[in-house]
Amino acid sequence: MARILVVTGSVRPNSVNEKIVPLVVDAADAKGAEVSVANLKDMNLPFFDDPNSPTSPDFAPTHESVIAWTKQVAEADGVVFVTPEYNHTLAPVQLNAIDWIGKEWDGKPVALVGYGWTSGAGQAHATARESLAVNLKAKVGDNQTNLFFMKHIAPDGAILEQEEVAQKIDATLSELLETIA
Ligand SMILES: Cc1cc2nc3c(=O)[nH]c(=O)nc-3n(C[C@H](O)[C@H](O)[C@H](O)COP(=O)(O)O)c2cc1C
Repeated sequence: MARILVVTGSVRPNSVNEKIVPLVVDAADAKGAEVSVANLKDMNLPFFDDPNSPTSPDFAPTHESVIAWTKQVAEADGVVFVTPEYNHTLAPVQLNAIDWIGKEWDGKPVALVGYGWTSGAGQAHATARESLAVNLKAKVGDNQTNLFFMKHIAPDGAILEQEEVAQKIDATLSELLETIA
């Protein structure tokens, strides 16, 4: 059974993220995956403050939350980022979480689910791809989910196009599970 880690992307109260993450969790569960959630709001990772880069052999973070987050990623067969787009890039809380980890990203299957206005988080996904695939050598799937406000979801996160949203998330997860298999 594939172990899938779903990573949240907003620490705002009543965020849209809180509406989209359960859809991803339920869809992965329906595909037979063992699903866990990395709730970055609860985990409260510090901003990256280590004297060493994660790629350095001397890198040995001591924050409990960072150690727990690293373990979650290491033990997952695949990771799904559910992200909003903030100022044409990835949610900063996710960028910070990505920065805290080095070698565990190498070869890790990753899938991207996002939502936004004009590009449906396309620019957030582009940043995630640049960081995770190009720099950190994760296996980021091509079949990303882009959800558009006013087409697929309302600004409060209500789902407007149930079937299309489900199909998009399903396609993203199918690719991830194929990469893991
Ligand atoms: C600081 C900030 C920057 C934003 N920048 C973008 C953007 O570049 N593109 C976009 O589509 N939406 C942008 N938005 C709108 C967000 O997509 C929208 O507020 C969304 O609900 C945020 O996700 P969340 O509710 O899960 O935090 C921005 C919102 C905030 C708060």
